[in-house]
Amino acid sequence: MKIGVIGAGTMGSGIAQAFAGTEGYSVVLCDINNEFAENGKQKIAKSLQGRVLKGKMEQSAADAVLNKITTGTKDLCTDCDLIIEVALEDINVKKQTFKELQEICRPDTIFATNTSSLSITEIGKGLDRPVVGMHFFNPAPVMKLVEVIAGLNTPDELAEKIKTIAEDLGKTPVQIKEGPGFVVNRILIPMINEAVGIYAEGLASAEDIDTAMKLGANHPMGPLALGDLIGLDIVLSIMEVLQRETGDPKYRPNPLLKKMVRGGKLGVKTGEGFYNYGK
Ligand code: 3HC
Repeated sequence: MKIGVIGAGTMGSGIAQAFAGTEGYSVVLCDINNEFAENGKQKIAKSLQGRVLKGKMEQSAADAVLNKITTGTKDLCTDCDLIIEVALEDINVKKQTFKELQEICRPDTIFATNTSSLSITEIGKGLDRPVVGMHFFNPAPVMKLVEVIAGLNTPDELAEKIKTIAEDLGKTPVQIKEGPGFVVNRILIPMINEAVGIYAEGLASAEDIDTAMKLGANHPMGPLALGDLIGLDIVLSIMEVLQRETGDPKYRPNPLLKKMVRGGKLGVKTGEGFYNYGK
């Protein structure tokens, strides 16, 4: 099966790695220009090299995974069987991306989006085919869950097909009807926002907040470190979707979160968030 991944950032390259590492799948990793797409492939190369150095993978196997990934712009997706859109979390960008893709793709190419919280129904509105949510978790090659989200016009058979593909990748799919934040982000992101609030009130250090949740709730990493990993801009945009879509004040983004995003302290990807990651 030939998979088009639109967006070669952290999630896009992680998803591309997950597919390319599975027998029977090849990937076209796309971005707005060749350079961005190639940068995504370099991230995958680095991740695979780490596994080779740890003795978890043969160099030849790593090379084989990389050879299954071609890079470029979305014009290369004409003959893809499935396209997963991992572009910016902006509804207009997503809608425009699919609109352009439907002009060049085969009529039977499946359109899926990895949106973290936006409406699948809205993304699919006006297109010549239905859209389904296929939501991976960061780091995508490692995390076992895929949320399969059905918008109002997503046929059951399409959701079933995506569940089967997720299982092929060794993931466990859960099927969800569309609602803001789906399941994981509706629970997880307000928790991270709450941790930001505790930090902003000066009640505990970032390290102690994270240690508390690691040792007191058995989370693999603390909420502030996790916010840094996800990207604080993404955390903020999901809080804003939850707040806007529900009108419920319990989803108010903490002002410190907004300030950090405005100041470019987005976490791991910018080298600084609640922790410092160096250059
Ligand atoms: N890419 C590829 N592989 C990675 C990786 C990455 N970015 N990060 C870690 N790994 C691999 C390691 O190579 C290692 O593989 P191995 O066992 O074969 O050697 C394995 O994952 C475990 O990694 P580590 O030993 O380095 O570290 P940990 O055991 O602490 O695990 C972690 C790291 C998997 C990130 C773990 O801390 C964890 O599960 N954290 C929580 C992550 C989480 O909650 N993600 C969801 C975020 S929400 C989201 O993504 C939704 C979005 O819409 C916002």
